[in-house]
Amino acid sequence: MNTIELKPGIYSVGIVDWNSRSFHGYAINNGTTYNAYLIIDEKITLIDTVKASFSEELIERISEIVDPKSIDYVISNHVEMDHSGSIPAVMKLAKNAVIVTSSPGGKKGLIAHYGDAYQYMEVKTGDTLKLGKRTLTFVTTPMLHWTDNMVTYCPEEKLLFSNDAFGQHYTSNNRFDDEEELERIMYELRHYYANILMPYGQQAKKALAAVKALDIDMIAPSHGIIWRSHIKEAIEAYEYYAEGRTEDYALVIYDTMWHSTEAIARSILEGFSRRGTRAKLLDLGKTPLSDVMTEMLKAKYLAVGCPTLDSYITPNIGAFLTYMKCLSPKNKLGFAFGSYGWSGQSIGIVEQMLKDMGVEIILDPIRITYVPSEKQLKDIEDRVSEIKIM
Ligand code: FEO
Repeated sequence: MNTIELKPGIYSVGIVDWNSRSFHGYAINNGTTYNAYLIIDEKITLIDTVKASFSEELIERISEIVDPKSIDYVISNHVEMDHSGSIPAVMKLAKNAVIVTSSPGGKKGLIAHYGDAYQYMEVKTGDTLKLGKRTLTFVTTPMLHWTDNMVTYCPEEKLLFSNDAFGQHYTSNNRFDDEEELERIMYELRHYYANILMPYGQQAKKALAAVKALDIDMIAPSHGIIWRSHIKEAIEAYEYYAEGRTEDYALVIYDTMWHSTEAIARSILEGFSRRGTRAKLLDLGKTPLSDVMTEMLKAKYLAVGCPTLDSYITPNIGAFLTYMKCLSPKNKLGFAFGSYGWSGQSIGIVEQMLKDMGVEIILDPIRITYVPSEKQLKDIEDRVSEIKIM
């Protein structure tokens, strides 16, 4: 990634991680970036750093513009190591720099990661920092998605450094939204929200209210593409997700051993189709969990199918339900289904786990012994097509 000047004297000095396909354990499709920004003013300021393994590259990029020793402030919007990991490498050179971070979560978190050898300035919402001709204002955004998160706003430039918010795991040699296909980056925005921010809709709403009060013509997140032409679309998408809104859309999510649960899944899909509900079949043996959760963001209905393996659920379903529980999707209606040989515990276990996650059960569990007959499959299709929601 070439160093890019976002606005006169403000540079993108971050890193493209082209080949990453896993982000702390969940699958990403297009690699990611760790964006960091350098402001040249009377006070030289670095906004966030990058993953530790890319420290050298960050320092090289900064050195193309300014001697890293001259950095006065390092703004740490977020303690997570994809953004703070190179703080030690930067501070080794910029010995007199002050780390600006949220109070109390930011300072506490950074000390727990990197020790207490650095100078810190703690900030809260509304605090400002004069850099020279520019000012930085801070807005804390706790639990979006850690306790320490904050965003940094430069009013003179109408520029918001939003950290994880509005980020995407997306790589390109371009840096701006209007240089890429909007549909692709909007999908990655949704993928990111679903897998990182989904549990924190209430906090996202508060942060959005604060962001909407600002006069912004550019949002520079810490992952992916910078927004300058489609800010409205990005904010509207976040509002939609944060409200937990759903569409008349069904996901039929299943694992299968000998294709019987798959056959039931296909009948359920047909039932939703007859009902006029858009539906999608997702085989957990073939679909990354992060893609399933991305679809789930907008889905109103979830049908989850699992064959009985010995007396329990299959590992794929176990992993899916665990991941779903972490992300705690809201406002879902669903039911369980599956094939079994003699005892059939899996279907009840899945139903109970869905209930425990707040899914409203709208159909009795569908249980089929061994292989479904044509008649059973037709009955399933009929039952699903007749689902009535009050
Ligand atoms: Fe991109 Fe929460 O770190």
